[in-house]
Amino acid sequence: MKVTIKTPEEIIKMRVAGRLAAEVLDYITPFVKPGVTTGELDSLCHNYMVDVQKTIPAPLNYAPAGHSPFPKSICTSVNKQICHGIPGEKVLKNGDIVNLDITVISDGYHGDTSRMFYVGEPSIQSRRLCELTFEAMWRGIDEIAPGKSLGDIGHAIQKLAEGVGYSVVREFCGHGIGAKFHEDPQVVHYGRAGTGLKLEAGMIFTVEPMINAGKAAIRHLPDGWTVTTKDNSLSAQWEHTILVTEDGHEVLTVSANTPPKPDYKFS
Ligand code: MF3
Ligand code: CO
Ligand code: CO
Repeated sequence: MKVTIKTPEEIIKMRVAGRLAAEVLDYITPFVKPGVTTGELDSLCHNYMVDVQKTIPAPLNYAPAGHSPFPKSICTSVNKQICHGIPGEKVLKNGDIVNLDITVISDGYHGDTSRMFYVGEPSIQSRRLCELTFEAMWRGIDEIAPGKSLGDIGHAIQKLAEGVGYSVVREFCGHGIGAKFHEDPQVVHYGRAGTGLKLEAGMIFTVEPMINAGKAAIRHLPDGWTVTTKDNSLSAQWEHTILVTEDGHEVLTVSANTPPKPDYKFS
Protein backbone atom coordinates (compact mmCIF):
# COMPACT_ATOMS: atom_id res chain seq x y z
CA MET A 1 0.00 0.00 0.00
CA LYS A 2 1.21 3.51 -0.72
CA VAL A 3 1.05 6.51 1.59
CA THR A 4 -1.63 8.78 0.16
CA ILE A 5 -1.73 12.56 0.13
CA LYS A 6 -5.27 13.64 0.93
CA THR A 7 -7.07 16.12 -1.34
CA PRO A 8 -8.61 19.31 0.08
CA GLU A 9 -12.05 17.67 -0.22
CA GLU A 10 -10.87 14.61 1.71
CA ILE A 11 -9.29 16.79 4.39
CA ILE A 12 -12.63 18.53 4.98
CA LYS A 13 -14.31 15.14 5.49
CA MET A 14 -11.49 13.91 7.76
CA ARG A 15 -11.86 17.04 9.91
CA VAL A 16 -15.55 16.26 10.41
CA ALA A 17 -14.86 12.56 11.13
CA GLY A 18 -12.15 13.49 13.63
CA ARG A 19 -14.38 15.92 15.48
CA LEU A 20 -17.23 13.40 15.62
CA ALA A 21 -14.94 10.68 17.06
CA ALA A 22 -13.78 13.11 19.76
CA GLU A 23 -17.39 14.10 20.50
CA VAL A 24 -18.19 10.46 21.34
CA LEU A 25 -15.50 10.63 24.03
CA ASP A 26 -16.98 13.90 25.34
CA TYR A 27 -20.41 12.27 25.41
CA ILE A 28 -19.33 9.14 27.32
CA THR A 29 -17.15 10.91 29.91
CA PRO A 30 -19.80 11.39 32.64
CA PHE A 31 -20.78 7.70 32.42
CA VAL A 32 -17.29 6.40 33.27
CA LYS A 33 -17.86 5.81 37.00
CA PRO A 34 -17.54 2.93 39.48
CA GLY A 35 -20.27 0.33 38.88
CA VAL A 36 -20.70 0.79 35.13
CA THR A 37 -19.82 -2.14 32.86
CA THR A 38 -17.67 -1.82 29.77
CA GLY A 39 -20.59 -3.29 27.84
CA GLU A 40 -22.85 -0.47 29.01
CA LEU A 41 -20.27 2.10 27.85
CA ASP A 42 -20.19 0.33 24.48
CA SER A 43 -23.98 0.41 24.02
CA LEU A 44 -24.20 4.06 25.03
CA CYS A 45 -21.47 4.98 22.50
CA HIS A 46 -22.98 2.74 19.83
CA ASN A 47 -26.38 4.39 20.16
CA TYR A 48 -24.87 7.88 20.19
CA MET A 49 -22.90 7.19 17.01
CA VAL A 50 -25.72 5.49 15.11
CA ASP A 51 -28.77 7.43 16.33
CA VAL A 52 -27.44 10.92 17.13
CA GLN A 53 -24.39 11.38 14.91
CA LYS A 54 -25.47 9.06 12.09
CA THR A 55 -21.91 7.75 11.98
CA ILE A 56 -20.81 4.13 11.62
CA PRO A 57 -18.81 2.56 14.47
CA ALA A 58 -15.77 1.28 12.55
CA PRO A 59 -14.72 -1.44 15.04
CA LEU A 60 -18.04 -3.34 14.79
CA ASN A 61 -17.37 -6.47 12.72
CA TYR A 62 -13.94 -5.13 11.70
CA ALA A 63 -12.01 -8.22 10.59
CA PRO A 64 -8.45 -7.67 9.40
CA ALA A 65 -6.60 -10.73 8.05
CA GLY A 66 -6.07 -13.34 10.77
CA HIS A 67 -8.69 -11.89 13.11
CA SER A 68 -12.24 -12.83 13.97
CA PRO A 69 -14.67 -9.93 13.46
CA PHE A 70 -14.49 -7.46 16.39
CA PRO A 71 -17.87 -7.93 18.11
CA LYS A 72 -18.45 -4.46 19.60
CA SER A 73 -18.48 -0.78 18.60
CA ILE A 74 -15.68 0.61 20.78
CA CYS A 75 -12.55 -0.77 22.47
CA THR A 76 -12.40 -0.70 26.29
CA SER A 77 -8.98 -1.56 27.73
CA VAL A 78 -8.79 -1.68 31.54
CA ASN A 79 -5.66 -1.58 33.78
CA LYS A 80 -3.21 -4.20 32.43
CA GLN A 81 -5.09 -4.39 29.12
CA ILE A 82 -3.01 -2.57 26.49
CA CYS A 83 -5.50 -2.29 23.64
CA HIS A 84 -8.43 -3.86 21.77
CA GLY A 85 -10.30 -4.80 24.94
CA ILE A 86 -13.76 -6.17 24.09
CA PRO A 87 -16.59 -4.53 26.05
CA GLY A 88 -18.64 -6.93 28.15
CA GLU A 89 -19.72 -7.75 31.70
CA LYS A 90 -16.63 -6.27 33.39
CA VAL A 91 -17.72 -3.85 36.14
CA LEU A 92 -15.43 -0.83 36.53
CA LYS A 93 -14.34 -0.19 40.11
CA ASN A 94 -12.81 2.73 41.99
CA GLY A 95 -9.15 3.13 41.07
CA ASP A 96 -9.34 1.44 37.66
CA ILE A 97 -7.93 3.18 34.60
CA VAL A 98 -9.62 2.56 31.26
CA ASN A 99 -8.83 3.51 27.66
CA LEU A 100 -11.86 4.14 25.45
CA ASP A 101 -10.91 4.00 21.76
CA ILE A 102 -13.46 5.39 19.31
CA THR A 103 -13.37 5.16 15.53
CA VAL A 104 -16.28 6.56 13.52
CA ILE A 105 -16.94 6.51 9.79
CA SER A 106 -18.51 9.75 8.57
CA ASP A 107 -19.28 10.28 4.87
CA GLY A 108 -16.86 7.44 4.05
CA TYR A 109 -13.93 8.74 6.12
CA HIS A 110 -12.51 7.59 9.47
CA GLY A 111 -11.74 9.53 12.65
CA ASP A 112 -9.82 7.61 15.36
CA THR A 113 -9.09 8.85 18.88
CA SER A 114 -8.72 7.48 22.40
CA ARG A 115 -8.35 8.84 25.92
CA MET A 116 -7.59 7.43 29.35
CA PHE A 117 -10.24 7.75 32.06
CA TYR A 118 -9.91 7.45 35.82
CA VAL A 119 -12.69 5.44 37.43
CA GLY A 120 -13.22 7.31 40.71
CA GLU A 121 -9.89 8.22 42.35
CA PRO A 122 -6.71 6.89 40.70
CA SER A 123 -3.62 5.74 42.59
CA ILE A 124 -0.52 7.93 42.35
CA GLN A 125 1.11 5.34 40.06
CA SER A 126 -1.91 5.14 37.74
CA ARG A 127 -2.13 8.90 37.43
CA ARG A 128 1.58 9.17 36.68
CA LEU A 129 1.38 6.52 33.92
CA CYS A 130 -1.63 8.18 32.27
CA GLU A 131 -0.07 11.65 32.44
CA LEU A 132 3.28 10.42 31.13
CA THR A 133 1.56 8.66 28.22
CA PHE A 134 -0.44 11.80 27.38
CA GLU A 135 2.74 13.87 27.37
CA ALA A 136 4.48 11.20 25.25
CA MET A 137 1.72 11.38 22.63
CA TRP A 138 2.04 15.17 22.54
CA ARG A 139 5.82 15.12 22.29
CA GLY A 140 5.40 12.84 19.27
CA ILE A 141 2.76 15.13 17.73
CA ASP A 142 5.07 18.13 18.28
CA GLU A 143 7.57 16.58 15.86
CA ILE A 144 5.11 16.51 12.97
CA ALA A 145 5.91 18.89 10.09
CA PRO A 146 6.91 18.58 6.42
CA GLY A 147 10.54 17.49 6.12
CA LYS A 148 10.55 15.73 9.49
CA SER A 149 10.50 11.92 9.56
CA LEU A 150 8.48 9.21 11.24
CA GLY A 151 11.57 8.32 13.28
CA ASP A 152 11.44 11.77 14.91
CA ILE A 153 7.97 10.95 16.30
CA GLY A 154 8.96 7.52 17.61
CA HIS A 155 12.19 8.80 19.10
CA ALA A 156 10.48 11.60 21.06
CA ILE A 157 7.96 9.13 22.53
CA GLN A 158 10.48 6.42 23.36
CA LYS A 159 12.92 8.84 24.98
CA LEU A 160 10.27 10.19 27.36
CA ALA A 161 8.80 6.80 28.29
CA GLU A 162 12.07 4.94 28.80
CA GLY A 163 13.55 7.97 30.56
CA VAL A 164 11.21 7.36 33.50
CA GLY A 165 11.59 3.57 33.41
CA TYR A 166 8.43 2.70 31.47
CA SER A 167 8.37 0.77 28.19
CA VAL A 168 6.91 1.24 24.72
CA VAL A 169 4.73 -1.50 23.19
CA ARG A 170 6.27 -2.62 19.87
CA GLU A 171 3.58 -4.81 18.31
CA PHE A 172 0.99 -2.06 17.72
CA CYS A 173 1.49 1.30 16.13
CA GLY A 174 -0.16 4.39 14.71
CA HIS A 175 -1.34 4.24 11.11
CA GLY A 176 -2.36 6.15 8.07
CA ILE A 177 -6.12 6.67 8.00
CA GLY A 178 -8.71 7.94 5.54
CA ALA A 179 -11.27 6.04 3.50
CA LYS A 180 -9.69 2.96 5.12
CA PHE A 181 -9.37 2.39 8.90
CA HIS A 182 -5.72 1.27 8.71
CA GLU A 183 -3.58 2.58 5.86
CA ASP A 184 0.14 3.05 5.32
CA PRO A 185 2.34 4.28 6.86
CA GLN A 186 2.92 2.41 10.12
CA VAL A 187 3.77 4.95 12.80
CA VAL A 188 5.82 3.11 15.43
CA HIS A 189 6.29 4.74 18.82
CA TYR A 190 10.03 4.12 19.10
CA GLY A 191 12.96 4.74 16.79
CA ARG A 192 15.83 6.95 15.78
CA ALA A 193 15.52 10.63 14.98
CA GLY A 194 15.89 11.47 11.30
CA THR A 195 15.07 7.97 10.05
CA GLY A 196 12.10 6.56 8.16
CA LEU A 197 9.48 8.10 5.93
CA LYS A 198 9.75 11.85 5.31
CA LEU A 199 6.55 13.68 6.17
CA GLU A 200 4.68 15.68 3.52
CA ALA A 201 1.74 18.05 3.74
CA GLY A 202 -1.54 16.20 3.17
CA MET A 203 -0.56 12.99 4.95
CA ILE A 204 -2.97 11.92 7.71
CA PHE A 205 -2.03 9.37 10.35
CA THR A 206 -2.59 8.56 14.01
CA VAL A 207 -0.19 8.85 16.92
CA GLU A 208 -1.27 6.40 19.64
CA PRO A 209 1.49 5.30 21.98
CA MET A 210 0.87 2.37 24.31
CA ILE A 211 3.14 2.67 27.37
CA ASN A 212 3.56 -0.05 30.01
CA ALA A 213 4.58 0.71 33.59
CA GLY A 214 6.59 -2.54 33.52
CA LYS A 215 8.15 -4.45 30.66
CA ALA A 216 7.13 -4.11 27.00
CA ALA A 217 6.15 -7.76 26.44
CA ILE A 218 2.52 -8.46 25.55
CA ARG A 219 0.09 -11.34 25.89
CA HIS A 220 -2.93 -12.13 23.70
CA LEU A 221 -6.12 -13.24 25.47
CA PRO A 222 -8.04 -16.22 24.04
CA ASP A 223 -10.91 -13.91 22.97
CA GLY A 224 -8.82 -13.23 19.84
CA TRP A 225 -8.54 -9.47 20.41
CA THR A 226 -7.64 -8.28 23.90
CA VAL A 227 -3.94 -7.57 24.43
CA THR A 228 -2.48 -7.31 27.95
CA THR A 229 0.93 -6.78 29.48
CA LYS A 230 2.76 -10.05 30.02
CA ASP A 231 4.00 -8.99 33.47
CA ASN A 232 0.52 -7.73 34.54
CA SER A 233 1.80 -4.16 34.89
CA LEU A 234 -0.53 -1.26 34.10
CA SER A 235 -0.68 0.09 30.54
CA ALA A 236 -1.98 3.39 29.14
CA GLN A 237 -2.69 4.81 25.67
CA TRP A 238 -3.84 8.09 24.12
CA GLU A 239 -4.59 8.63 20.42
CA HIS A 240 -5.13 11.52 18.04
CA THR A 241 -5.53 11.65 14.24
CA ILE A 242 -3.16 14.24 12.74
CA LEU A 243 -2.93 16.06 9.40
CA VAL A 244 0.51 17.20 8.19
CA THR A 245 0.09 20.82 7.06
CA GLU A 246 2.40 23.14 5.08
CA ASP A 247 3.66 24.71 8.28
CA GLY A 248 3.37 21.87 10.79
CA HIS A 249 0.32 19.83 11.75
CA GLU A 250 -3.34 19.99 12.66
CA VAL A 251 -4.95 17.69 15.21
CA LEU A 252 -8.20 16.51 13.61
CA THR A 253 -9.72 14.68 16.60
CA VAL A 254 -10.69 17.80 18.49
CA SER A 255 -14.00 18.52 20.23
CA ALA A 256 -15.22 20.96 22.88
CA ASN A 257 -13.79 18.88 25.75
CA THR A 258 -10.63 17.44 24.23
CA PRO A 259 -7.91 17.70 26.88
CA PRO A 260 -5.53 20.48 25.79
CA LYS A 261 -1.84 19.99 25.07
CA PRO A 262 -0.17 19.77 28.50
CA ASP A 263 2.64 21.77 30.02
CA TYR A 264 5.55 19.36 29.84
CA LYS A 265 6.72 18.08 33.22
CA PHE A 266 8.47 14.78 32.49
CA SER A 267 11.94 14.32 31.06
N1 MF3 B 1 -8.99 1.99 17.14
C1 MF3 B 1 -7.88 1.08 17.09
C2 MF3 B 1 -6.72 1.86 16.51
O1 MF3 B 1 -6.43 2.88 17.04
C3 MF3 B 1 -8.15 -0.15 16.29
C4 MF3 B 1 -9.22 -0.99 16.86
S1 MF3 B 1 -9.50 -2.31 15.82
C5 MF3 B 1 -10.79 -3.09 16.58
O2 MF3 B 1 -6.13 1.56 15.52
F1 MF3 B 1 -11.25 -3.95 15.74
F2 MF3 B 1 -10.35 -3.61 17.72
F3 MF3 B 1 -11.71 -2.20 16.86
CO1 CO C 1 -5.69 4.08 15.51
CO1 CO D 1 -8.03 3.93 17.87
